[in-house]
Amino acid sequence: MEDIAQTDNPALPEFWLRKDPESAFADMRREKAVHWHDEPKSAWFPDGGRGFWSVVRYEDVVEVSRDQETFTSEYGTEIVDMTPEMVHIFGGMLNMSGTAHAHHRAIVNRVLTPRSVEALGDTIRDHARRCIDRVAAQGSCDFMQDIVGDFPAQIICELLGVPVDDRARLVSLTGVALSAYGTAEAYQAMLEIIAYAEQLTARAREQVSDSASFLRKLLTAQVDGERMSDHEIAVFFALLVTAGIETTATSIGQGMYALSLYPEQRRRWQDDFQRLAPRAVEEIVRWVSPVRHFRRTATRDTEIAGQPIAKGDKVVLWYSSANRDESAVERAWELDFARAEDRHVAFGGGGPHFCLGAVLARKEMTVFFEELFARLPDIEVSGEPERLHSNFVNGLAALPVRYTPA
Ligand code: HEM
Repeated sequence: MEDIAQTDNPALPEFWLRKDPESAFADMRREKAVHWHDEPKSAWFPDGGRGFWSVVRYEDVVEVSRDQETFTSEYGTEIVDMTPEMVHIFGGMLNMSGTAHAHHRAIVNRVLTPRSVEALGDTIRDHARRCIDRVAAQGSCDFMQDIVGDFPAQIICELLGVPVDDRARLVSLTGVALSAYGTAEAYQAMLEIIAYAEQLTARAREQVSDSASFLRKLLTAQVDGERMSDHEIAVFFALLVTAGIETTATSIGQGMYALSLYPEQRRRWQDDFQRLAPRAVEEIVRWVSPVRHFRRTATRDTEIAGQPIAKGDKVVLWYSSANRDESAVERAWELDFARAEDRHVAFGGGGPHFCLGAVLARKEMTVFFEELFARLPDIEVSGEPERLHSNFVNGLAALPVRYTPA
């Protein structure tokens, strides 16, 4: 079944250790639309899983994303197979489909609105300033650990009303749940996050007067007379903390690195920040592709771009590849804030699961770069970035920077 070398298999850590994994995707896109890949060994499948199809072209990623009837999320969106219990715990609505998903999404859409994000604006700015100010006098530091630090985590905690004293523990559990993915340790961490969220939800239920809190709004929001249970809210809480932290940190960190590779774009943005911000943020997200992939499962025998796909086959959508597809985006390798349209799938291919946090992520990025340019206008990358070797998040472990002390 295998049709290309294993170092060309993006599910494997070796693939992301290559000097230029992006050019392997370019080869795949040129060769054919859909590739079969064997699955690496995992704790659950010591001899390897059952393998999956890789979808690498922009148009196909969009088409599959929009057809949940044929390509469902309900058997999991990770490459590896999980038990139904784990699919639920690790994804909640992300791993639901059809009317159940639509109903769930309609309820949370009433609470996580553009207005609720706008209302967080001052809080986002305060946290951005605090993160930058704590190292402003140093003249150099690690952008990821010392500046971006816990910025996205603090914003999610503010949104969810997590007490300050509980945040460090919650963030540490989230780190375990994500970094040790697929292990018993990660599962335990996830269960602990959900148990904690159930406690917070129970407390919110009693605080009738606090009608403005996020959890309180979730408890009372209804669609067709139905509300979410405390457990459903807790699983959604866990999804928000796992989906909203690493992704945004990656966008800001890799965004800073991208600006160092394209100084002309950076100059243009710094000179005309407000006007260019919406385009710049969108282009950074495209260029970075913070989330590399999600998976679907075929519900019937079908095909993608002429490739037969059997019922039950796993289909992996490589957003990193689709965002570099030259047939969809001209000069896709380049960061260019003058593009006429925002064509990318970094937040998903536009189907029913399109990122629910996109408005918040854009706001966080905009405010963060605005404060960064205002406080450390000459900040520059001073060494090579250290990449995370994950097949899931395009993150950075470290990025050295220097600047005139402020
Ligand atoms: C730049 C940062 C982010 C990126 C690149 C990103 C990317 C994605 C992607 C690719 C999906 C799946 C789309 C699909 O399957 O079609 C998704 C779903 C989701 N994201 Fe994000 N995300 C980001 C930030 C956030 C933040 C800050 C939050 C939380 C506030 C969040 C919450 C969610 C949720 C809840 C879903 C599931 C939606 C559903 O299943 O209906 N994301 N995101």
